[in-house]
Amino acid sequence: MSTQTSATAKTNAVLTYEGKTLNLPIVVGTENEPAADIGKLRSATGLITLDPGYGNTGACQSAITFIDGEKGILRYRGYPIEELAEKSSFLEVAWLLMNGELPTRQELEGFRTNITRHTLLHEDFRRFFDALPKDAHPMPVLAATVGALATFYQGPETEKHLQDTVIRLLAKMPTIAACSYKHSIGQPFVYPQNRLDYCSNFLNMMFATPCEEYEVDPVVAHALDQLLILHADHEQNCSTSTVRLVGSSQANLFAAISAGIGALWGPLHGGANQQVIEMLEQIEREDGNADRFVARAKDKNDTTRLMGFGHRVYKNYDPRAKVLRETCDRLVNKLDVSSKLLDIARRLEEVALSDEYFISRKLYPNVDFYSGVIYKALGIPTNMFTVMFAMGRLPGWIAHFMEMRRDPDNRIGRPRQVYTGATLRPYLPIDKRG
Ligand code: ACO
Repeated sequence: MSTQTSATAKTNAVLTYEGKTLNLPIVVGTENEPAADIGKLRSATGLITLDPGYGNTGACQSAITFIDGEKGILRYRGYPIEELAEKSSFLEVAWLLMNGELPTRQELEGFRTNITRHTLLHEDFRRFFDALPKDAHPMPVLAATVGALATFYQGPETEKHLQDTVIRLLAKMPTIAACSYKHSIGQPFVYPQNRLDYCSNFLNMMFATPCEEYEVDPVVAHALDQLLILHADHEQNCSTSTVRLVGSSQANLFAAISAGIGALWGPLHGGANQQVIEMLEQIEREDGNADRFVARAKDKNDTTRLMGFGHRVYKNYDPRAKVLRETCDRLVNKLDVSSKLLDIARRLEEVALSDEYFISRKLYPNVDFYSGVIYKALGIPTNMFTVMFAMGRLPGWIAHFMEMRRDPDNRIGRPRQVYTGATLRPYLPIDKRG
């Protein structure tokens, strides 16, 4: 595993407050991003920083992923996402994220073999699934099952145990995902097949039945592989920060990933891809009028948002969305799926991209806008969309967990607050309360 190099401070910013002056060292990253180190702020001035949503807070130094939201740049370990999506495979990218360098042929082969040999779930998990309601959303099922893996693979956290956990997670995640789907539709689980590659194996576990074999279409498997690559990391987003925060307490990797899955489920994060399709279906049901829906999304008295539009970081375009738009066109032509939903999506995009409201707020289609349409074309059920995102994001979560654990300066995550509640008051006996 590569080690992280820390950026060093070369200059200072000066902060003056109530007669006290503090030099804040300016730490500059390899892409020249400056950050004021406020580590001594409170002890020197009594101040803390207030930044709800952490929009201006750097919580760590990281050598994994670089994003320039203004320029629409996303790179894993220095490699542009567009190039990785075109030329590499998901497992190659997973290795890259976790180890810092692209694998040699031998390393990749060994990694693939290792993952292939760990895809089976312990048979006792059957009873675990049986205990969950049939109509359970697959995301909490995934989070619960990943958390439960910690009960099957206990042990002191040695480097060997951590490495085994990484392989187990990457290998078993598609199996768990497919089992959660099969459980929800009442079909028997399909066992993993060692002869199949990562994505083909997942598709087979999803769609094969004891009565009928499933022939994996290489076009479908390739599109899925590309989707996983595009989702593999996105630096300090909500779920990755969650994984780091949980891991910072020295909780184990299974627990941290389970928490990350929970964070990803939210509709403002990974849940948006499901919401995009639900929005398109709603438009189709109502009257198919994309223009009217855009008007609602702009109306401040209406809580409707255009799902799949806007991003906290990308204010120009989302480079992943650009790749996926092309994949979407290619796939829909190749598979010959005519989709009313795709037509509505295209119209929605056209209307929003030429509308002053969206232009002035720099709201562009994000990765979720197209991924939902592609998953639909691939035959993935809507409630599994966010699970697909979790499968893709797994190596990124793991890479950040490992980076944090290996950082000798790592401290438990513990933000502060500005308290706005009642000041000191005496306890009021119950007969004296209004
Ligand atoms: N539709 C309509 N208006 C929007 C949208 C949208 N999708 N997104 C933002 N806006 C408006 C807001 O109402 C606000 O308007 P105002 O300035 O007049 O008050 C302005 O644009 C800024 O919005 P914020 O919510 O402050 O932007 P923030 O950076 O906090 O949120 C977010 C980003 C959560 C992604 C937001 O754009 C959103 O809710 N989008 C829809 C959900 C979505 O697609 N999420 C997936 C994100 S990608 C991912 O997680 C992989």
